[in-house]
Amino acid sequence: MKQTVATLRKMKEEGKKIAQLTCYDYTTARLMDEAGIDMILVGDSLGMTMQGYNDTLPVTLDEMIVYGRSVARACQNTFVVIDMPFMSYQISPAQALESAGRIMKEAPGAGAVKLEGGALMAPQIKAITDAGIPVVAHIGMTPQSVNAFGGFKVQGKDEVNAERVLQDALAVQEAGAFAVTLECVPPKLAALISKKLDIITIGIGASSCCDAQVLVYQDMLGMASGVSPKFVKHFAEIGQQMKEAFADYKAAVQDGSFPTPEQTYAKSDCSDEFLQS
Ligand code: KIV
Ligand code: NA
Repeated sequence: MKQTVATLRKMKEEGKKIAQLTCYDYTTARLMDEAGIDMILVGDSLGMTMQGYNDTLPVTLDEMIVYGRSVARACQNTFVVIDMPFMSYQISPAQALESAGRIMKEAPGAGAVKLEGGALMAPQIKAITDAGIPVVAHIGMTPQSVNAFGGFKVQGKDEVNAERVLQDALAVQEAGAFAVTLECVPPKLAALISKKLDIITIGIGASSCCDAQVLVYQDMLGMASGVSPKFVKHFAEIGQQMKEAFADYKAAVQDGSFPTPEQTYAKSDCSDEFLQS
């Protein structure tokens, strides 16, 4: 079934949980689409997972479009959301609309854009949704503000902060967002927001109380290096499998057991006689 804003909204109404993963390339997106993943996020986390930066700040709008269109081409049924990168929307609602418009024009098949920020970004969200482009907001721990937070930390732990996160959630709904990502928000607050809002809440490190969940795919496949955050679960150890396959390949090339005649177009060996025959 082709997922749309309407079908996703209906899932929330019916109490059906929504599964989202990040994705950044055609091959992986095709597998997710075939597996029935409801939503993909082409996250600006690609600055870290695909480009090796320490945070998401260096990612450009042009880059988001290149990765985004690769993913969108693969998706028959999965709903594709593309992140707006740092400084592609913060300056003004006009800048935000222009950037969102470029994403939708240049990544055909994308269904929505996502931006970070709550009440302060409400004018941007309104400008984009008024132009007919669905918006996912992102509040709580917003990685583009990592330097203001002083690190990647849980947001809304104390009362003042919790009230601010709640007000942000209400503001983005009011501004027209159809979903909101809650990143590293305490369970009670995530539950309260999910209950209060009509729009879809997408949790990451925000408990099972949200309407949807999202994970970075390299994290959930066990491909990321280093220690994973507490909220990550490995659903497979693909990283280990890849390493073993790469090492097996190297050994087979070295000992000559690959390629065999089975992987060769015509009968061959590497002897001088064969060369002269
Ligand atoms: O860029 C990203 O992957 C994200 C998710 C972690 C929500 O914004
Ligand atoms: Na992001």
